[in-house]
Order: sequence, then structure tokens, then C-alpha cells
Amino acid sequence: MVTILSQVACTVSSMTRTRVRHQCRECGSLQPKWLGRCPDCGEWGSVIEEPIPFGGADRGARGPATIAAPMALADVDPLGAPLRATGVSELDRVLGGGLVAGSVTLLAGEPGIGKSTLLLQALSTLARRGSRCLLVCAEESVEQVRLRADRLGVPPPGLLIIAETSLPVALAVAETLAPDLIAIDSIQMVHEPDAPGAPGSVTQVRDCAQRLVRHSKEQGVASVLVGHVTKDGAIAGPRVLEHVVDTVLSFEGDRDHGVRTLRALKHRFGPTDELGVFEMTSEGLLGVPDASSLLLTERRGDTPGSVVAAAIEGARPLLVEVQALVTKTYAPLPRRAAQALDGGRLALLIAVLQERAGVGLGGFDVYANVAGGVRVSEPGIDLAVAMAVASARTDRPVPKDTVVIGEVGLGGELRQVAQVARRLTEAARLGFARAIVPVSTPDVPGIALLRAADLSAALQALATRVAPRRGLVAVSDRE
Ligand code: TYD
Ligand code: MG
Repeated sequence: MVTILSQVACTVSSMTRTRVRHQCRECGSLQPKWLGRCPDCGEWGSVIEEPIPFGGADRGARGPATIAAPMALADVDPLGAPLRATGVSELDRVLGGGLVAGSVTLLAGEPGIGKSTLLLQALSTLARRGSRCLLVCAEESVEQVRLRADRLGVPPPGLLIIAETSLPVALAVAETLAPDLIAIDSIQMVHEPDAPGAPGSVTQVRDCAQRLVRHSKEQGVASVLVGHVTKDGAIAGPRVLEHVVDTVLSFEGDRDHGVRTLRALKHRFGPTDELGVFEMTSEGLLGVPDASSLLLTERRGDTPGSVVAAAIEGARPLLVEVQALVTKTYAPLPRRAAQALDGGRLALLIAVLQERAGVGLGGFDVYANVAGGVRVSEPGIDLAVAMAVASARTDRPVPKDTVVIGEVGLGGELRQVAQVARRLTEAARLGFARAIVPVSTPDVPGIALLRAADLSAALQALATRVAPRRGLVAVSDRE
């Protein structure tokens, strides 16, 4: 597809035989001709005509320097691209085992979230295990990185570092050193002197990433790029950056809280649904294998609006506390605000609560979040969100020992979710005595099931339990 596009986009001037292409400086898309406005991103005056540089991506036009003979797929050695475990267990979990030689991984996240720390920890562990690692620092001095490394433990001798912003210089160094892994912190700060634009500009970011991808594939070296994301969560630079790399890892979390999560948004060599959980401590990032316990530590029992949901993230169950607050509004349009949850899903669940379960939320603002800031976006937490809102609205708490599982349909019906038994086993392990679940849920030892066909039935299951009075709850809770 890309090849066809670039062929269409390339026009050959018969006079000069110079090939030119028309490309948008903002989004990097190729256009068949010059246009005043880019049809892909809508930007005016961003499509420019540029000669196609000789060599590199354009090699096809002049004939490649060496022609690789095709071979039978069955004859290809799958171990030609070995996997290198980084030794940081939560990172390896998300990567599906480790980094693949010749691959390029983008580690994206907001400034200050801990990307450089995670990278340094991974490089140190790899170097300690005998891999040669080269860290190219374009943002910090080598002394600053050394200071950080001291907090994380003594850096091993196999970890080499260079403060450099010119990508060709960094790659020339890499060619002489022949490391197993190159890391660049960050892609927005390195530059390619031959390309137009300042470091961090769309053209620069794209050209640097493409050059690095070429280098990685040719040398068979794994590369990691650090990339900053903007406030709205987009990876700064052209969208094309996401397409050129093999793996995009997103490092998220609330900067005010210690919990950080790592997910693969794209991964050519493994799963994309795994979740890595870390805690930022004074000695760097600590992997959290028992994330549920960590996320539930600050939970106060029997508070209206607080419900524990059992979710599944990748291969592991994750118990999270969903919180809701419902207050009377004096604004003409009530507010619905969701944090670490899908806002559209919250609005839908509010509509289902109103229409199918008779919970009036018309004149009320509704706020909902997941405590700890771990974003959960799977439908298995629908019932927990709906019950948290209903509980906050009616001031009737969900008992502390109850966990809630289920997807809510538009008719108010409860749908079964994937791997329900694993969710229940995890809840039982953490001491939960009861679970409100869809009807078709099988029994699981150690936990009593309250099966409900729809949202109203689930809410009744709560109502039949003796809800302690609010004042008493607050007093006993603080003791
Ligand atoms: P950093 O890795 O520099 O973030 P990024 O590269 O994503 O911009 O880390 C940022 C924060 O982490 C910084 O505020 C300090 C904190 N931090 C710790 O709390 N403990 C540590 O051991 C380290 C190294 C950093
Ligand atoms: Mg950094």
C-alpha cells in the first residue's frame, strides 16, 4: 500500500529526470500532486514539493545496491531474530519476552512519567547480563544520567553512554561499537543535519526515526526510542512515526501517584493486551507483580460510590476500585466526568441506569474514576461503574467484601465476560467473600456468587443486604 502510494506520489520531470514527491509537513502523508490543503490532516499550505533524496528509501528508483534472493518461507530460520529479555520483568511481560534483534521500539509517555528511568534500568540489567548497550542522551548531560544511575544502583561497565544530538554522529559511533542495543533519549531532541526543520519538527522526527529503523534492520541491532507525548496523549511528531517502528509502548500514570502502567499499543512480535505495573520509588521503578493488592491498599470500606471490579488485563486479573460521586447540579447541563475510564461508556451506563433501572440522574453531576489512576477500558467493569454511580446516588454502600463483574447491555441486561473464573479466583485470593456476577457464571471455590440477570436485579441484590447507616459506617471506618 505504502509502495503504491509512493509510486503514485512520485512524479518524474522529463526535462531534468529529477524525481519529486509531494508530502505534507504536518502529518507526513504523500499526495499525488501539490495541494493547497492536505486532505489527510486538513492543514493549509503544508504540502511541499521535495526532491526525493538518492539512496535510502528511494533506492528502488536507481536499483538497489545488492539484490537479496527470495527464499522459501519454510527455510527461514525463526531464531535469526533472537529475543533478548531485558531483565525488567514487567517490561518483558509487555514485550512478550524481551526485545527482538533488529527491531525498533518506541517508548512513549508524558514528560516526567519515568521513561528515562525505565530505560536506564533496562539498559543496566541488560548490560549486567553481558549485553553491550549504547545510550545516546540528547536531553541530559552524561553527569545527569550518572546521578540518576546512582539512585538505581552501580551502573555496569557494559553500559556505554554518549551525549549527542546529531543522529548521524550517534549512528557512526554505534557502527564502530557494534552494540546489541541502542537507546535514544529522546527522538524529539536528535536531529539529522541534512533534513530541513528544527529538532522535534515533524520532518526531523520522521527522518530520524526512518534512518534509525534502517540502521537497526541493516545491523541487526535492537533500538529503543524515547518519545514524548503531548497533553492530549498523541505522540509528538508525525503519525508516520507510529507506523515505522515495530513496537509502540505507552507509559502512563498519574504523576502525583506512584503507580505507573506500561502497555503495548502496537507490537509486531507479541501480544498487545498485556499490562505492566510499576511503582515509582526513591530507588527507581519497582515491578508490581501483585498489582491488585497495591491498588486496593487505600480503600475504605462500605463507602457509598466505591465498588471493587475484577478486570482482566492481558494474562492477569486486576482488581480495581471504581469510585463515583453524584452531586446535585445547578447548571443547565449536568457534568459527566470520567478519569481513567472511558467517558463515552460512563455516559452510556448513566443512560441505562436511568432508563432500565429507574435511577434518576437528570439533575445531578456524575464523576467516576479508577483509584490509583490505572486506566481500565474493558467492558467487564461496566457493572461496577453502574453500581458505583447508583450507590453514590442512593447513598447505599456496596459491602466491603463484595466484588462486581459483568458487562451491561443497552437493555440493562448483564452479559458474561471473558475469563470470569480467573477473575473470581483472584477476588477470593484477596479475601472477597461475595461476587455479583451475570447468570451464566460457574461456581468458583472460596467465593459466594449473587447471580443477576440485569442491572435492576444487581441493584436489588445490594438492597436486600442490610446496609449500615452512613454515620455509623464513617465512625467505624475511621477507627
Ligand atoms: P524521568 O525518568 O526523568 O521521566 P521522563 O524521562 O519520562 O521525563 O523521571 C521523572 C520523575 O521520576 C522525576 O520527577 C523524579 C522521579 N524519580 C523517582 O521518583 N525515583 C527515582 O529513582 C528516579 C530516578 C526518578
Ligand atoms: Mg527523560
